[in-house]
Amino acid sequence: MSTAIGIFYGSSTCYTEMVAEQIFAQLGPERATLHNIADTPISKCKEYDYLLFGIPTWDYGELQEDWENIWDDVAGLDLSGKTAAIFGLGDQIGYPDWYQDAMGYLYHLLSSLGVTLVGHWPNQGYEYAESKALTEDGEYFVGLPLDDENQADLTEDRITKWLSSLAFCSDS
Ligand SMILES: Cc1cc2nc3c(=O)[nH]c(=O)nc-3n(C[C@H](O)[C@H](O)[C@H](O)COP(=O)(O)O)c2cc1C
Repeated sequence: MSTAIGIFYGSSTCYTEMVAEQIFAQLGPERATLHNIADTPISKCKEYDYLLFGIPTWDYGELQEDWENIWDDVAGLDLSGKTAAIFGLGDQIGYPDWYQDAMGYLYHLLSSLGVTLVGHWPNQGYEYAESKALTEDGEYFVGLPLDDENQADLTEDRITKWLSSLAFCSDS
């Protein structure tokens, strides 16, 4: 499948940025374009049918500041018909009661805008107490949770598996 994929991310201390770059490297520039939301108007995502969003959680369950700055802009977009998946950065040991909450907030906002969200990920293999980024049955995260503070060695493999599970990102 040949598709144009827009990757949009916000990042305060570069962890999400590094993951976004890894995802971009795996997909290749012929398929994907990388956008830091601090530099690119979020309305640009309307140009893509397929989207990947990267969001870390900050300050005890809060949005990363670049996402917070454009939250109302996102809420005003018509994204019906788009297909998207979210990857999140968080720290399950340092912030176990708010693990990946921002990914959950973005998931619910995008769902309300008519976006089809794919890329759920099993909640096994993580140690946390609470998260707002779980599916209703609690079995899955609503996107790919990554923890480069505590599980950096798992990140690359998780990204590869997640991308290959996404129809719009797989090679065939
Ligand atoms: C002050 C502070 C607060 C944080 N709060 C949370 C949190 O509530 N939940 C979570 O999962 N991670 C939390 N984290 C971890 C960050 O999400 C993690 O460091 C992430 O990799 C940062 O990504 P970025 O560099 O792309 O901004 C926090 C980190 C710091 C330093």
